[in-house]
Amino acid sequence: MAPRDAHRDRVLILDFGSQYSQLIARRIREQRVYCEIHPPTLDAAAVRAWNPAGIVLSGGPASVLEDDAPDLDPAILDLDLPILGICYGLQLVARILGGRVEPADRREYGPAELVIERSDPLFEGLSDATRRTVWMSHGDWVRSLPPGFTVLGTSEGSPFAAVRHAERPLYGLQFHPEVVHTDGGERILANFVHGICGCAASWTMDAFIDEAVDKIKQQVGDDHVVCGLSGGVDSAVAAALVHRAVGEQLTCIFVDNGLLREAERGEVESVFRQALGIPLVVSDAAARFVQALAGVTDPERKRRIIGHLFIEIFEHEAERLGSNALHLVQGTLYPDVIESVSVRGPAATIKTHHNVGGLPEVMKLSLVEPLRELFKDEVREVGRNLGLPETVVGRHPFPGPGLAVRIVGEITPERLACLRRADAIVTEEIRRAGLYDSLWQAFAVFLPVQSVGVMGDARTYENVIAVRAVNSVDAMTADWARLPGDVLGTISTRIINEVKGVNRVVYDISSKPPSTIEWE
Ligand code: XMP
Repeated sequence: MAPRDAHRDRVLILDFGSQYSQLIARRIREQRVYCEIHPPTLDAAAVRAWNPAGIVLSGGPASVLEDDAPDLDPAILDLDLPILGICYGLQLVARILGGRVEPADRREYGPAELVIERSDPLFEGLSDATRRTVWMSHGDWVRSLPPGFTVLGTSEGSPFAAVRHAERPLYGLQFHPEVVHTDGGERILANFVHGICGCAASWTMDAFIDEAVDKIKQQVGDDHVVCGLSGGVDSAVAAALVHRAVGEQLTCIFVDNGLLREAERGEVESVFRQALGIPLVVSDAAARFVQALAGVTDPERKRRIIGHLFIEIFEHEAERLGSNALHLVQGTLYPDVIESVSVRGPAATIKTHHNVGGLPEVMKLSLVEPLRELFKDEVREVGRNLGLPETVVGRHPFPGPGLAVRIVGEITPERLACLRRADAIVTEEIRRAGLYDSLWQAFAVFLPVQSVGVMGDARTYENVIAVRAVNSVDAMTADWARLPGDVLGTISTRIINEVKGVNRVVYDISSKPPSTIEWE
């Protein structure tokens, strides 16, 4: 990929608050076209400076008929750039250019049948069917089109389901091409970014790595850099990327907080020291964490204690290095960045997520965040291209406070040992069944509930382990995984037979929302 300012193979998404905005970005990136999501307050001059090949206007929860509805700088429509308005985006363009938008006689939510009335580059390569299922979600509709627009497609509830300007590359869709339920939606977005905007498929992870390495070299110069490893994929890939750029100037610090999964510390040591040759300091702090958590049962208190102790130890180790470390590597991903720019503003805090975001203030280090532009699957691809093993790259996400938020109630060394073994059995059996890579997360939870059982001829009165396995694309929502009964059976039998102190295993069948993925 050429330096970004020198080319225009990229698309701007203006986010009017749709729950699907991230999905639009993912679909466009899948076409190997770079795109970014920005708030709709960007004016025409800022858009011109960003220099996109085209613009997508997302959907949104507001109504363009409301006084305080998010608006668009009308001058953006005169920049002579291809524009695709989706749902709210279409209604906004229609209203600005002189059409009429009204509350729909019949709201459309869910599947609808699109009838293609006229061929167009936007529909290039779609199968011959003139009728196809698309996904609708709107309460308003365009009642009359602005001058110069023509109809490309209709549905029963939307006479203007797909429209375009007769001469200019201005398009509007009432349905959502970004959701999987829209038949041919992927092709429509591909046609827009490649055919209509003229973007080449140049956004590859190898090209990304080359560019990121140059940027890191420039930012870091000859300084020393530290990185806190968590065992998770994001910090591992960020560290490997910075190491590719500045080699021995990077030192990684891994705090063993005693709340890790089975064999996790050994894996991190062997991958970083042996496989990648990255200097690694391991701080053995398990006893300190367990001590600090003694008697604590409140989930948020657990998180705060762990967060503060982590910062204290990390700071201490970084000082002990005696280096002139001026930079801190963080595995911030694009979804974290978008959260703070979207029209919705940052989401409400459901759980205080511990990450090293608190560090810079304390340590006065400048941040190196080489993954800020990437989605999780792109991060995994970068990790693979950098030679990280599948055990690291394909690993299920794991919360910073670790097993502490998977033991309901008090944390003790015995409970930790019990949960660690049960969790390892869940992972082993899920892997054996070939299901690991298709699940977002699968793990065990320790419940401080005792129930009666019988083992041999004796009565037992022991703890319960809950098994949780979920499917998700971004952890914002999740559904419980329909694991095969025999896999669940083997997990249960093995945990009860092999893990001391457990005589009952239950399966968590709650979705998120209203539950969360972790139990605390
Ligand atoms: P919840 O439980 O909120 O989790 O549905 C969503 C995703 O975030 C992970 N998670 C955390 N990650 N620090 C982290 O770094 C935390 O405190 C934390 N709590 C939850 C969780 O594993 C899931 O993938």
